[in-house]
Amino acid sequence: MRRLENKVAWVTGAGSGIGEAAALALAEEGASVVLTGRREAPLESVAERIRAKGGTAHVQAGDLMRGDTAGRIAAFIESTLGRCDILVNNAGLNIVERDWKRLTPQGAQEVIEGNLSSAFYCSVAVLPMMRAQQDGVLIHTASFAGRFVSPMSGPSYTAAKHGAVAMSHSLNMEECVNGIRSCAVCPGEVATPILDKRPQPVSAEDRAKMVQAEDVGDLIRYIACLPKHVCINEVLISPTWNRGYVAALRR
Ligand SMILES: NC(=O)c1ccc[n+]([C@@H]2O[C@H](COP(=O)([O-])OP(=O)(O)OC[C@H]3O[C@@H](n4cnc5c(N)ncnc54)[C@H](OP(=O)(O)O)[C@@H]3O)[C@@H](O)[C@H]2O)c1
Repeated sequence: MRRLENKVAWVTGAGSGIGEAAALALAEEGASVVLTGRREAPLESVAERIRAKGGTAHVQAGDLMRGDTAGRIAAFIESTLGRCDILVNNAGLNIVERDWKRLTPQGAQEVIEGNLSSAFYCSVAVLPMMRAQQDGVLIHTASFAGRFVSPMSGPSYTAAKHGAVAMSHSLNMEECVNGIRSCAVCPGEVATPILDKRPQPVSAEDRAKMVQAEDVGDLIRYIACLPKHVCINEVLISPTWNRGYVAALRR
């Protein structure tokens, strides 16, 4: 028995990495999946894979840093699918020139809008549907950098992801009376295309030891399939071979 039959899931950043894996996992459970990212081609490719297995997928491309995109897509979801049960607030980015020495106002703005403002816009857009249903789960891909401060991810990404974690907890504090749950998923290093923006290139050997996108997709599936009375507030997930810990041991 598929656990998400008749449910609707909106996955942002669904064309690659963690979002792609989450979209495939939720569709496997029977959810109708709405896929968002800026580039249409990778979204279409994920949608084709879902449809090839008999699932339902809708592509809704758009830049979530723009304040009006989330509202437009939520309106599409409401008019076409009639409900929204799961938001996977996963779209995010980082920049190469991320340290204070090289950070520009434009770089800080891109990272904060791309990881935090966009997550707020999508949450605001789906909450009316979830309140009307008295049911819904929001799952935000935050980061280890949203829980711990370290130089690697850069100050704007670290601040934005801390903001995303705080946002998720505040949703539970206010929306629990409406049957709505929110979870901040905080991954350490996951082998996805975002690593290509690291100032220090990441080797194939290191990527192979990391958490894989499918591992986080499975975690998101688990959270989405929990019964309505259970809220997982926050999860840390990291590679066993945690490069930060390994470096500290070798000092
Ligand atoms: N990989 C890691 O080590 C790691 C660790 C902790 C947290 N995370 C977080 O995990 C999430 C997923 O990242 P990933 O690792 O799977 O990397 P990824 O493959 O680069 O995925 C990020 C996705 O977000 C989309 N996106 C970025 N900006 C967007 C915007 N303004 N509007 C709409 N879509 C946008 C991208 O598609 P387009 O470029 O087509 O828009 C892309 O598909 C991110 O929030 C990231 O910060 C990753």
